[in-house]
Amino acid sequence: MTKKIYVKTYGCQMNVYDTERMVDVMAHEGYEETDKPDDADIIVLNTCHIREKAAEKVYSDIGRLRVMKEKQVKKGGKDSILAVGGCVAQAEGAEIQRRAPVVDMVFGPQTYHKLPEMTVEADKSKKSGERPRIVNTDLNVSEKFKSLSKKGVSAKKSAFLTIQEGCDKFCTYCVVPYTRGGEFSRSYEDVMQDAVKLNDAGVLEVTLLGQNVNAYHGMSAAGEQWSLAGLIRHLADTTDFQRIRYTTSHPHDMTDELIAVHGDVEQCMPYLHLPVQAGSDKIVKAMNRHHTIASYMKTIEDIRKVRPDIALSGDFIVGFPGETDADFQATMKVVRDVEYAQAYSFMYSERPGTPAANWDDQVESHVKSERLAELQQELNRQQRAFNDTTVGKVIPVLLERTGKQDSHLVGRSPYMQSVYVDVGDAALAKQYFGKMVDMKITSAGPRSLKGEFVS
Ligand code: 5AD
Ligand code: SF4
Repeated sequence: MTKKIYVKTYGCQMNVYDTERMVDVMAHEGYEETDKPDDADIIVLNTCHIREKAAEKVYSDIGRLRVMKEKQVKKGGKDSILAVGGCVAQAEGAEIQRRAPVVDMVFGPQTYHKLPEMTVEADKSKKSGERPRIVNTDLNVSEKFKSLSKKGVSAKKSAFLTIQEGCDKFCTYCVVPYTRGGEFSRSYEDVMQDAVKLNDAGVLEVTLLGQNVNAYHGMSAAGEQWSLAGLIRHLADTTDFQRIRYTTSHPHDMTDELIAVHGDVEQCMPYLHLPVQAGSDKIVKAMNRHHTIASYMKTIEDIRKVRPDIALSGDFIVGFPGETDADFQATMKVVRDVEYAQAYSFMYSERPGTPAANWDDQVESHVKSERLAELQQELNRQQRAFNDTTVGKVIPVLLERTGKQDSHLVGRSPYMQSVYVDVGDAALAKQYFGKMVDMKITSAGPRSLKGEFVS
């Protein structure tokens, strides 16, 4: 019987990438991926610690899995390993097992390459009738990548490639510098080795990932330092990737060189996720964001000069400590001035260990909810307006997956919009799967577009 691994992914694209790598690593040990936790020999929760809600969800999932496991064992079924990985694991470590003794294994985002060894150890403990108590939260990023690059990469048409991890910015609300560790850029050779593998596997779209991806400064063996801009140009010149994306960027690291790439590298997609978080200088300063509102607006202006159709995205936090109505209205003004194609917005969440969590000018919860509702109403309106501008246009769509029905295909426009098409029958849908197809957009909804093939 083949052994199986089930991984549930919470949070950001970096976690999606990490999950794919965990599955790769375990595939080398003969494990197959399953989407059913009750089928699995090892269940991994790849967790997110960015906001309280995300972290709490993990504990309610553990509770449900405990009940499932107890029933399974009672019926004489397998006693699977329950592992908590990712950022909650990094932040809480052994505390997770104190709170939830059913958890056998805890490992952080920089140790999942050791999953095979940890699994063997857990199995051994189980066989000898002991409860496994494995905790591994080292923060050695370079060791992880060294070990991972020896292994294969999965072959979808759209793939993630992590080039940078961690963060040195220390925004006063954020756990990332503590859970992912300091800023680390992979070397030029390591990145290119993975890029070539993806290219050879027929990947058409690559998304370069990093918590602070535009701070990338990987070295080559020859001692040259590579920037993100240089890397994108090089990938455009030396691979067959038709689409190159990158995320997430920090306004402080949005260099002129990188802006220029958007103007003259055809493969660089017209989409930029550039979080500003808040619209008043007082608040962004308190957030330790290393930029001003004027410098952010100047960046937006510069990028629109070279790529007028660019789709802009962002993140917003409302109710940061000390945020007054006037500060919040400054955020609304930035939003109205920029006109986003889409954006993510959150209520400020106090995270243990971060500076702002201890400040005494916290904003009341009902005020946060009201501000979030006002902001989201405007962001939804803008997203809809942006989607409307694509109606009637013919744009290339990379068809990545089937939709609600087998005859439906869903893909992404250059602007990151979800586009769906009904091709009529499932067999035809299969033929188009993984293809880049020109589509005429026939209608727009708040979150997606509908299109038809032009030929
Ligand atoms: N509270 C609310 N939102 C947060 N984010 C990060 N930390 C917090 C927090 N403590 C948001 C930021 C970031 C996104 C990934 O999550 O907007 O850009
Ligand atoms: Fe967190 Fe700020 Fe670093 Fe982004 S830049 S990961 S918000 S500390």
